[in-house]
Amino acid sequence: MLATQQQTDTKRYAKCIEVSKRIRWEIDRDVIRGRKFDFSRKFLPDGLSLVDQFEFLSDTERRYLSQVQGRSYANMFGLAERFIGAKLLELSRDHWLGDQTALEALVRFTDEELKHQELFRELERMMGEGMPAGYKYLAQPNDVASIVLGKSTWAVLALTCNIELFTQAHYRQSVQPDDNLSDLFKDVLLFHWKEESQHAIIDELEWQREDGKLSAAERDRAVTDLIDLVAAVDGILQAQTPVDVEYFAATCGRKLKPAEMDRLRAGVLKAYRWQFIGSGAQEPRFTELLGSMTLPQHGERIGAALAPIVGTA
Ligand SMILES: [Fe+2]
Ligand SMILES: [Fe+2]
Repeated sequence: MLATQQQTDTKRYAKCIEVSKRIRWEIDRDVIRGRKFDFSRKFLPDGLSLVDQFEFLSDTERRYLSQVQGRSYANMFGLAERFIGAKLLELSRDHWLGDQTALEALVRFTDEELKHQELFRELERMMGEGMPAGYKYLAQPNDVASIVLGKSTWAVLALTCNIELFTQAHYRQSVQPDDNLSDLFKDVLLFHWKEESQHAIIDELEWQREDGKLSAAERDRAVTDLIDLVAAVDGILQAQTPVDVEYFAATCGRKLKPAEMDRLRAGVLKAYRWQFIGSGAQEPRFTELLGSMTLPQHGERIGAALAPIVGTA
């Protein structure tokens, strides 16, 4: 790497450390603060849950569906943070005897992801106390991590960067402006967003560093890996959707018609795909970075793989 590029990168890692120290929060002291979830409010905003597509549900039922989705949303993050933390810890090896500023930035990043996993586990427990029995989150963090970590580092960093960018976009665009959400759920996403802002910058630096090591053939394979990872995320969403719809149907207080169940299965899958794939795929910073590290034919392959998932086919 050129000396000047190295200096620029070191400054960016240093900035991440500075902000990370300044906004550092603790789960109980700053986020939960002795509160419980307010189930008279929605958890996820309509822009993410897409519950307003279900005209056959009452307002109370839509609110409840946003809470079921919010529970799975929190679990999805806890799941992703397992492989993200492990990958960053692995990447830190490259800096062990090199740029100590970069090393510190990656160590802080990993520490924060461990804390986030603890936060999301605690939320799952608290939501379980306030919601009817029978909820299940299917995917196991370690099973998913072992599949993800078997893919090329370039692809894992692309997926990670995407996740950390859309986390911020969700907060800024739909969570923050909505005054009808549970205060605690909203605060969780606020505090999470604050630390994710630094993570996305570190992902970018590490992704570009990794990109500099690849041959043309390796980059081609890395793009295939990224497409496989998106398909794996979609597989998780496709498996979780009917489980969440069944749970909602069994606990919403009335018997839903078969046609309504079909609408719910299709509509909730659409919402989950929007939350975890579609919204990130159109993040301007992500498309800019991906475009700078790939050739047009790679973009076409990725676009073709995304089309049936995000509904542009
Ligand atoms: Fe996180
Ligand atoms: Fe993160």
